[in-house]
Amino acid sequence: MNNFEFYAPTRIVFGKDSECQVGSLLKEHGATKVLLHFGGQSAEKSGLLGRVRQSLKDSNVDFVELGGVVPNPRLSLAHKGIELCKAEGVDFILSVGGGSVIDSSKAIGWGLCYDGDVWDIYTGVGTCHTCVPQACILTLAAAGSEMSNGSVITKEEGMLKRSYSDDSCRLKFSILNPELTYTLPEYQTSCGIVDIIMHTMERYFTTDEPMMMTDAISEGIIRNVMANGAILMKDPTNYNARGEIMWSGSLSHNDLTGLGVGSDWSTHEMEHELSGLFDVAHGAGLAAIWGSWARFVYDAKPERFETFAKNVFGLTGDNLVIRGIEAMEAFFHSVNMPISIPELLGRPVTEAELDELARKCAYGGRSIGGFKSLPESSMRAIYAMANK
Ligand code: NZQ
Ligand code: ZN
Repeated sequence: MNNFEFYAPTRIVFGKDSECQVGSLLKEHGATKVLLHFGGQSAEKSGLLGRVRQSLKDSNVDFVELGGVVPNPRLSLAHKGIELCKAEGVDFILSVGGGSVIDSSKAIGWGLCYDGDVWDIYTGVGTCHTCVPQACILTLAAAGSEMSNGSVITKEEGMLKRSYSDDSCRLKFSILNPELTYTLPEYQTSCGIVDIIMHTMERYFTTDEPMMMTDAISEGIIRNVMANGAILMKDPTNYNARGEIMWSGSLSHNDLTGLGVGSDWSTHEMEHELSGLFDVAHGAGLAAIWGSWARFVYDAKPERFETFAKNVFGLTGDNLVIRGIEAMEAFFHSVNMPISIPELLGRPVTEAELDELARKCAYGGRSIGGFKSLPESSMRAIYAMANK
């Protein structure tokens, strides 16, 4: 059991109609001028943005708006947001949307406090430990950004996708109304399901001595997301199933699932290059490479994969490692997610693209992975395995 700190300061306001409290919550948190930040169309179309504007007006909270965040959120919009906030004297940022909107808001919040181009902190040139206070109304259970200390941004030039983590960006409050996720296309629901499972598995697969409490939480989250994900495939407006998945999403990525143990993150690192280069959905990209990663690394500690097969899937008997991996891939398929790059993109990538993915992922000559350390040659081998 490793030493740990647990810091999850975000206030969660969960349940039906909870978004109607947003104006009074902002007031309570001292917001005087808010940036209302959102994505493409979904929040406008569903009427959510209208309700949010009304709540802000009712609470006499002044605000400016910036929409247009796209999946794999772009640096250029964050730059625009920083300039807008400076011009308008914004002192609080409210995201309405999924992980991309929240991550864009975090970039804006850091950019307002950082003396230089905010991209520097995503590339390791600089650091930033202060951020403009933030909150969100979550519309997609997936990235866990509503409780995490991270943000992932893509720079259009070269389609470079990079992340930065610092506790300063943790949201003051996150409003979680499962009903707001009813309008999601099935594909996005499934991508979210995979991402939540992956945030848990990235921490579960460690060669460290397991901590029973952390294992119980992690195995419970994975089983819960699979069970409720199956319900949503048939009944997408099932409130309890939406709620179970939404709360699992926050718990999977607020650090709870990694307490006292190490973590891996290779699948995430390798996926960020896929979604950076091909602009695919993060969750689908994760599903496309996880099985190949697992087959490549399991020999570092096969007993961990056996425990996974037993405790998550209830498997017994021989060949548990491979059967556990296959069981997770079968679940991904059951929610219509790809388990290979050709299934993800509709074609295999070329040899040159394999080289590029591995080269970009190994930037600065780094290796990735906690379960098994992966240099560039191993990354390329895993991409190649996933390309069949
Ligand atoms: O733009 P709109 O029209 O809102 O459409 C969005 C978008 O096209 C749509 N959507 C969201 N809520 C909806 C909805 N459509 C209908 N009804 C709703 N209620 O869904 C699409 C995807 O949204 P996005 O925010 O991109 O998805 P997600 O929440 O999965 O976020 C993905 C991003 O988060 C990053 C990923 O890399 C990716 O860039 N991550 C962030 C993390 C963090 N900050 O801690 C950790 C994660 O591992 C992840 O890397
Ligand atoms: Zn993720």
